Amino acid sequence: MTLRGTHILVTAGPTHEPIDPVRYIANRSSGKQGYAIAAAAARLGARVTLVSGPVALKAPLGVQVARVETAREMLAAVESALPADIGIFAAAVADWRTVSEHSSKMKKAGSAGAPALALTENPDILKTIASRESLRPALVIGFAAETDNVVANARDKLKAKGCDWIVANDVSAETGVMGGDNNQVTLVTQAGEEGWPAMTKEGVASEFMKRAATLWQGKRRGAQAAE
Ligand code: CTP
Repeated sequence: MTLRGTHILVTAGPTHEPIDPVRYIANRSSGKQGYAIAAAAARLGARVTLVSGPVALKAPLGVQVARVETAREMLAAVESALPADIGIFAAAVADWRTVSEHSSKMKKAGSAGAPALALTENPDILKTIASRESLRPALVIGFAAETDNVVANARDKLKAKGCDWIVANDVSAETGVMGGDNNQVTLVTQAGEEGWPAMTKEGVASEFMKRAATLWQGKRRGAQAAE
């Protein structure tokens, strides 16, 4: 199996949403699953662009990395990496950012108690790309980080975001998935659900890329036959 000649776009890691020059809103994503997917795609011969939030990981071999901090920067980097054949959205994008960033450090002294943080919603990168009329990757795959009703919520996301597959994972604290080395995922497609055994994130990445490559090659053959 080869993905030579294919451009794959992957998002990974958290985003950081600034409050002031020294503080930000963040989450526990390590970026390990998205980086492992980018590495697996490169091993299959694809050209890979990895748009990464702030993580402590090295660029995988042969992968072009665009480093960003905020959700808005991530969306801009994703859009400028298009066209892509396959888009894989593994990032744990912050849902909210502050309405305005303080230009200087907020001080305790002299303030009347704890400040209230006014938040506003970030753009939904996956949904934006999946619903594009032009340059939508032929295959758009999202992730679903859930703590309750994992598969049902993932199926709702498949529909709401307009993507082709959702990889669902349980990120409850006791699973150790967020930040850990292992993952147990359920692949949710239009056709049904498939629970995979627990594996390392590298194991999930290589199985997942094999499956995505097979689907992509089928789609490409179908498109060529129709021409
Ligand atoms: N996602 C995105 N942009 C956002 C939020 C999420 O691209 N602003 C993508 C994630 O990369 C993932 C999918 O959407 O592929 C689902 O992310 P998740 O955090 O599970 O869901 P949310 O859409 O944020 O919904 P909720 O937090 O209510 O579960």
